[in-house]
Amino acid sequence: MGGGEDEFEPSALGTKEHWDATYKRELQHFDDTGDAGEIWFGEESMSRLIGWLEKQKIPLDSCILDIGTGNGYLLAELAKSGYTDLIGIDYSPSAIWLSKKVMEKEGLPQVKLQVEDILNPSDELSGFHVCIDKGTFDAISLNPENAAEKRKQYVKSLHRILRPGGLFLITSCNWTREELLNEFGEGFLLLEELPTSVFCFGGKTGNNVTVLVFQKKI
Ligand SMILES: C[S@@+](CC[C@H](N)C(=O)[O-])C[C@H]1O[C@@H](n2cnc3c(N)ncnc32)[C@H](O)[C@@H]1O
Repeated sequence: MGGGEDEFEPSALGTKEHWDATYKRELQHFDDTGDAGEIWFGEESMSRLIGWLEKQKIPLDSCILDIGTGNGYLLAELAKSGYTDLIGIDYSPSAIWLSKKVMEKEGLPQVKLQVEDILNPSDELSGFHVCIDKGTFDAISLNPENAAEKRKQYVKSLHRILRPGGLFLITSCNWTREELLNEFGEGFLLLEELPTSVFCFGGKTGNNVTVLVFQKKI
């Protein structure tokens, strides 16, 4: 992986089969050990997003959607930070089972969770103040079947479910700032790039993760 290209090698990470199998395993692991499994991009990726929302004084009753929520951990952290209107979607039923179990364990029954494909969202999903994506657009970009078309569909879905002026926070390890601007720039304004840790590899320094905040154009 890594930025700088328009397309990526298709990979199992882009398929529903992969995520179903992953979360089936994680669900079993959770039942056995109580461990919710991987937090993509680590703990700091959650504190970075929540810190930004808090700094901007985004009201605690804002309607917030986590796209491709996985184990739902980000939503649990948002709920613990005081946000009250939270919903997570994932196209993997096992991920939604796992995230429901995580909320039960954390005592957060108010967090809504449902099986939904962001590429074909139900009418019920609309009017969000904030949509968050941590690794889901990346996964979709790796789909072996017509990823370019799927990325376009993602942008359309996002545009439909966010209210005008609504915010979209994306964390990506596949795409650079310029590439994401290219994907989302038509219907969304880039508000801010959030700083991430810089890593050094083979004498070259670069950001391995890009975090951008977009606002849906009014
Ligand atoms: C890299 S994981 C990230 C999980 C979570 N956001 C996190 O940060 O830990 C990508 C997630 O996107 C979900 N996903 C991929 N394509 C999706 C789609 N079209 N609709 C909904 N969820 C999708 C996968 O099932 C998986 O949970």
